[in-house]
Amino acid sequence: MKRRNFLKKASATGFGLVAVSSTLISCDEVISSEKKIVTPILQPVRPLVIATWNTPLAVETAAKILQNGGSALDAVEQGCRVEEANEKGQSVGKGGLPDRDGNVTLDACIMDDKGNYGAVLGVKNIMHVISVARKVMEDTPHVMLVAEGAEQFAVSKGFKRENLLTAASKKKWEKWKVKAAYKPIINIENHDTIGMLAIDAKGNISGACTTSGLAYKLAGRVGDSPIIGGGLFVDNEIGGASATGLGEEVLKTVGSFLIVELMRQGKSPQEACEEAIGRIVNKPGKDFKNFQVGYIAVNKQGETGAYSIHEWFSYNLFKEGENKNIKSDYFNKK
Ligand code: GLY
Repeated sequence: MKRRNFLKKASATGFGLVAVSSTLISCDEVISSEKKIVTPILQPVRPLVIATWNTPLAVETAAKILQNGGSALDAVEQGCRVEEANEKGQSVGKGGLPDRDGNVTLDACIMDDKGNYGAVLGVKNIMHVISVARKVMEDTPHVMLVAEGAEQFAVSKGFKRENLLTAASKKKWEKWKVKAAYKPIINIENHDTIGMLAIDAKGNISGACTTSGLAYKLAGRVGDSPIIGGGLFVDNEIGGASATGLGEEVLKTVGSFLIVELMRQGKSPQEACEEAIGRIVNKPGKDFKNFQVGYIAVNKQGETGAYSIHEWFSYNLFKEGENKNIKSDYFNKK
């Protein structure tokens, strides 16, 4: 094979020739017109799961699906469901903190390896909105359903209505109501939205993102999580990215889409996440002290990246059989 053709083929199949964190499996002898050279062939890391925050059970659930030969799409859906059912997590699914009127409203979206997308926005009374988003993607000609329409659709698909406001979240909301100070409260130090990306054994990438959004938000407010390119973006040729934190800031910079496009231009997932955070914090006069944004990303070779504005953002990574929580690097080092 001519070296030029070999390089073209390697790049088209997503086998990076210089991807440092990929696993070296063999060396191939490639003949160029001038001399015989040896070029390493790198195997993309798979299966792989990466998710925002300390979400070991969600990642383990997704990883098990992949290890049993399941698809990345099934993995991210089932992984996100774990956090949606976790009542202790007050920013996703059941137990999520309500809007200022006391209503828990959920947002979610999902993308598959074919570039399909489904989302639900501002849904009350349904716990597993990530699965409703998948139904929107697979069973309708649309990509987004909102509020009552999304709830009715969910019920028509067999999802059960239930009260999502737990006693613990109600208590916090009642305490907040005493002053009812309206400012975006974004949890800088703890769990927020779960965004998850997975690569399955076939090398296909999917992603999912689910949240109850900003605590005590104005009724009707929607953040980045269910918006394609904001809270999530996947391009199976390139990689995927997902966001957590103050959705308004992610949306203004179309953060997840930006990261995937930066990777398309040759940046590593880490470099791309850092540049996306830079687009937020480097705006003239931007006061980023009181809000957090964090990104995770993966490319086709299974290289990962993560970066946030402030300390305390972490992510769970399942790679080469191990599921670890890792502290993200961050911008605001004071
Ligand atoms: N990132 C979640 C939200 O802003 O709604």
